Amino acid sequence: MNTLIKHIRCLAGVQDPKTPLRKEDLSVFPSIQDAYLIIQGGEITAFGKMNERTFIEDDFDRVIDAADHFILPAWCDSHTHLVFAATREEEFVDKIKGMTYAEIASKGGGILNSARKLQACSEDELFSLAWERLQEAIRLGTGAMEIKSGYGLTTASELKMLRVIKRLKEKSPIPIKASFLGAHAFPIEYKENRSEYIRILTEEMIPQVAAENLADYMDVFCEQGFFDPQETETILQVAAGYGLRPKIHANQLSVSGGVEVGVRNQARSVDHLECMDDAAIACLADAETIGTLLPGCSLFLRAPYPPARKLVEQGAAIALASDFNPGSSPSYNMNLVVSLACTQMRLLPEEAFNAATINGAFAMDLNRSVGSIAVGKSANLILTKPINSLAYLPYSFGENPIHRVMVNGEFYN
Ligand code: NIG
Ligand code: FE
Repeated sequence: MNTLIKHIRCLAGVQDPKTPLRKEDLSVFPSIQDAYLIIQGGEITAFGKMNERTFIEDDFDRVIDAADHFILPAWCDSHTHLVFAATREEEFVDKIKGMTYAEIASKGGGILNSARKLQACSEDELFSLAWERLQEAIRLGTGAMEIKSGYGLTTASELKMLRVIKRLKEKSPIPIKASFLGAHAFPIEYKENRSEYIRILTEEMIPQVAAENLADYMDVFCEQGFFDPQETETILQVAAGYGLRPKIHANQLSVSGGVEVGVRNQARSVDHLECMDDAAIACLADAETIGTLLPGCSLFLRAPYPPARKLVEQGAAIALASDFNPGSSPSYNMNLVVSLACTQMRLLPEEAFNAATINGAFAMDLNRSVGSIAVGKSANLILTKPINSLAYLPYSFGENPIHRVMVNGEFYN
């Protein structure tokens, strides 16, 4: 099947940078007005201005007129916890009544609550719950996704979660990356014997995860009450020996040292960054490690937003992701994430689009196949409803701005 999309009102995100975008480059989202796009075998093979076209329309199996539509690369959601057994509305109500996320966690709720429920859920049931969520996320414009384990917290349950992610990878039309997050919380029985859980992580879980090739990255929740920087470093270094590159939950609830430990260990990304001091910001400036910001989590927990402007101005490469999970961010709607980035963190729309597309792709090492309009990349695209400018997308928060989503050159909805 070869497809021509013609007279596209605006084809945006036309670029192919070799490194994540930073500083003023982040504020340019290159676009072509009255454009065409050619797709063959699910990949973008050509694009340009209509008045410079050389193709013959009759050569195509399908011709789509997009005169009313903007087309942009589908979102690259580089931080999710898509696999879980049950939602946690009861904790949501506790939070409305005044409990904090940390208080709920310290009483055995939060991640440990999700772990108990996941341990009792079959692999097939977990798969079908996650598969439904994935399809809905794609319909909302997500064209690539990272998914974490971390609600297992025993060897058997962590492997169960990662096998579910592996099945999602095999069945999904969009690319998926897997992160092993066995270091998400200490199970209650190891609260007083942390070194034994770290031994299980490093001597049992990581070798088995690697032997079954179940993960691309190693994630650790580096935070007070969870894993301290020294424990985080020990785990990361063992994982690195098995080829798992770090991706850290850093500086979410406190200035935890997670950013420094991540950068020092060549993390692909350090994620969250709600609590940043000058040293943590300076550490990320010019670092190869990407800072991934999750504004849905700040919204839902009434927590501070990450200092996005300072990070951009100091030269950090930033990405935007949903952090979709049942406790701190129960939404995979990347349209809302982009809008929050603009309204709450003062990113310009162009900066937010780049952070949620090409820089998100870099944060998953998927920049060669998704995240922008470039020859050879998968045709994973968003066709907007009729709008007058791209800034309308973050402006009209809460509205679904998407007309149709294309995955590998086929309409998904
Ligand atoms: O990214 N902070 C750690 N992990 C998740 C929340 C997990 C949960 O509450 O279930 C996060 O916010
Ligand atoms: Fe997370």
